[in-house]
Amino acid sequence: MIPVCKPWLPGNEEKYVLDAIRTNWISSKGEYLDKFEEEFAKYCGTKYAVSCTSGLAALHLACVSLGLKKGDEVIVPTFTMAASVNAIIFTGATPVLVDSEIDTWNIDTTKIEEKITSKTKAIMPVHIYGHPCDMSMIYQIAKKHNLFIIEDAAEATGAEYIGKKAGSLSDIGCFSFYANKIITTGEGGMCVTDNKELAEKMRKLRNHAFDLPRFVHSEVGYNYRLTNIQAAIGFAQMENAQMLIEARRSVGLRYNKLLKNTPGLILPVEKPYAKNVYWMYGIVLDNSIKLTKEQVMDRLKERGIETRGFFIPMHKQPAYYNKTVENAPDCSGNFPVADMLGERGFYLPSSSDLNDNEIEYICSVLKEIIKDSPFL
Ligand SMILES: Cc1ncc(COP(=O)(O)O)c(C=O)c1O
Repeated sequence: MIPVCKPWLPGNEEKYVLDAIRTNWISSKGEYLDKFEEEFAKYCGTKYAVSCTSGLAALHLACVSLGLKKGDEVIVPTFTMAASVNAIIFTGATPVLVDSEIDTWNIDTTKIEEKITSKTKAIMPVHIYGHPCDMSMIYQIAKKHNLFIIEDAAEATGAEYIGKKAGSLSDIGCFSFYANKIITTGEGGMCVTDNKELAEKMRKLRNHAFDLPRFVHSEVGYNYRLTNIQAAIGFAQMENAQMLIEARRSVGLRYNKLLKNTPGLILPVEKPYAKNVYWMYGIVLDNSIKLTKEQVMDRLKERGIETRGFFIPMHKQPAYYNKTVENAPDCSGNFPVADMLGERGFYLPSSSDLNDNEIEYICSVLKEIIKDSPFL
């Protein structure tokens, strides 16, 4: 079976992990943490990087450090992973859902302003599947309404918007290093910012909000500390960052070339402002194909190809429409693009070390299935 995604640790990962263990620096202090944060900030072109335990933790730290609280509202796309919305919910603020663009699958910037109220405090754009959002549009709206921007760049390490790295285009950019991410630490996350005060606040909050003298707490803190062992993997990954990101991107470009002009398939785009890293190579079945997404995915599986369905939009999540929490988002609006993506989208194997033969095999099987499918 060709897995939908697997980690790739081609450099000094093992060596540095062993070094962390042998030198006994196994917890949340150690040279790899400093080096990883330093390299990550440098890579993103930001002044500060604050590591933490996951992408969700990064988003939560960002939301708390910007002071989001009960009664506030945050604009977020409905087509995202639940972590974006949950990070807002944890603060007591209410997520406000917006539909997606038909081509990039990112938040539809033309639909943001109609959702802004006197309670809106921030916009959280999400760079879906590695394609950056139209950040200058978002920036203009945020400036006009005096809003923070928190970038959910969990899926977009290395992606660029007009030559600037995803995550560096807002108040705080948040990353995930889960095993399927282009740069991984197994589990882990990072917040990047140019704002010293915010960086210091996030460093404090991730570490139980210890004050001086120790064991005095003037704020409620968390334990969101990454370990030196995880950072050892991350630092080794950063030594090969360019190669890892280009490898992932070249998988996407190869798919683009082989699947171009296949009737019935909508492929990912790359806008003139964007460098897409194709974190996951998503495709959408257009409505000329009679087979469902599940049928196509099952047939691919029978031929040894693992795939995964797109996100189910947030307005379709029972946790939110059943109001299991008081500040769940309002799910009653119309989100036709997100609905269509959720129903007809899935992604193909996207590991960075997928070879040409595997990609050619996947594309030929997919084309065969589509060709044999009755068209409407
Ligand atoms: C858009 C988005 N945001 C946040 C996250 C959460 O990251 P983590 O799983 O590291 O908590 C993910 C995870 O894949 C994601 O896709």
